[in-house]
Amino acid sequence: TPRVFSGIKPSGGLTLGNYLGAIKRWVDMQGPEFETIYCVVDLHAITVWQDPAELRAATREVAAGMLASGIDPERSVLFNQSQVSQHSELAWIFNCVARMGWMNRMTQWKEKAGKNAEAQSLGLFAYPSLMAADILLYHATHVPVGEDQKQHVELTRDIAAKFNHDYKVDFFPITEPVIEGPAMRVMNLRDGTRKMSKSGESDMERINMTDDADTIARKFQKARTDASPLPEIVDGLEGRPEARNLVEIYASLADITPAEVLARFPGAGWGTFKPALAELAVEKLAPISREMKRLTSDPAEIDRLLARGAERARELAQPILDRTLDIVGMVRG
Ligand code: TYM
Repeated sequence: TPRVFSGIKPSGGLTLGNYLGAIKRWVDMQGPEFETIYCVVDLHAITVWQDPAELRAATREVAAGMLASGIDPERSVLFNQSQVSQHSELAWIFNCVARMGWMNRMTQWKEKAGKNAEAQSLGLFAYPSLMAADILLYHATHVPVGEDQKQHVELTRDIAAKFNHDYKVDFFPITEPVIEGPAMRVMNLRDGTRKMSKSGESDMERINMTDDADTIARKFQKARTDASPLPEIVDGLEGRPEARNLVEIYASLADITPAEVLARFPGAGWGTFKPALAELAVEKLAPISREMKRLTSDPAEIDRLLARGAERARELAQPILDRTLDIVGMVRG
């Protein structure tokens, strides 16, 4: 059975972008077709400073969000990265396979490092190499992610190919990013040209998974748009990033296409569409946030689940790490 791997950084609360671009699709991929492995990537989070208490809380909150959304710890392997040391071990090998120039070309590195690359952590620079290790440690071939992670998954392919080539083996598989559906790049509600993110400066620009109904309604109400009504056909969304974003969010939440959304609201104005969108979002998110609250009230239970998941992950990972070390020429007793 082909393996699916994906992860989320516990560097703050979950957003609607994380849900539509990742978690919602991870839930759908559970089943007989794939073996699914989902990870709270705490080692990735500390590539930028995290307060220890907040990191612990965010790790549990992200795990709770995944569980509340329908990740089933019986059908999927669900764990936090730092409990499976094989990730770090394989990442070191990949640090010696990947080239500095490859990392330098990553747009996320360039954005985050900005003009001050010298002051960034070495871990932030090497981040894509750890991400490749996450995926290839399980020989995962399918990686469901949002649009912003595409380049990192492509780099994973380059690392696998160079390893196979250098050591003259056919060991690591070539991984496919799975980027399907209408909301693969959910945009900031105040600026339709920027991505919705956990760390944006204003809370009004994102929907958090834990926002209550009134907050969700207010944020969509205040979402920036142009003045024109919705177009009749999808082509009419061209050059209207804010309108496109809201239509795509609706489509993804309702499991329909953007064309079907426009057919459902022919030529509607924002005064009609925004309240309908808010109502749909509340209908879908309220049960999840209620369940998240229940789960996070018992952190010990989440910790137990993550530890059990980590145990299963280590069993899958160790044989692949052993074989890798053997290929590289490490003496094993
Ligand atoms: P992270 O934590 O930034 O985001 C987690 C997932 O959510 C998606 N996402 C979005 N999708 C659509 N619109 C948005 N506005 C939006 N914001 C976030 C991301 O694309 C991602 O799928 N490097 C990864 C974590 C990672 C990983 C991995 C992923 C580490 N190892 C191995 C896959 C496989 C990250 O920082 O995601």
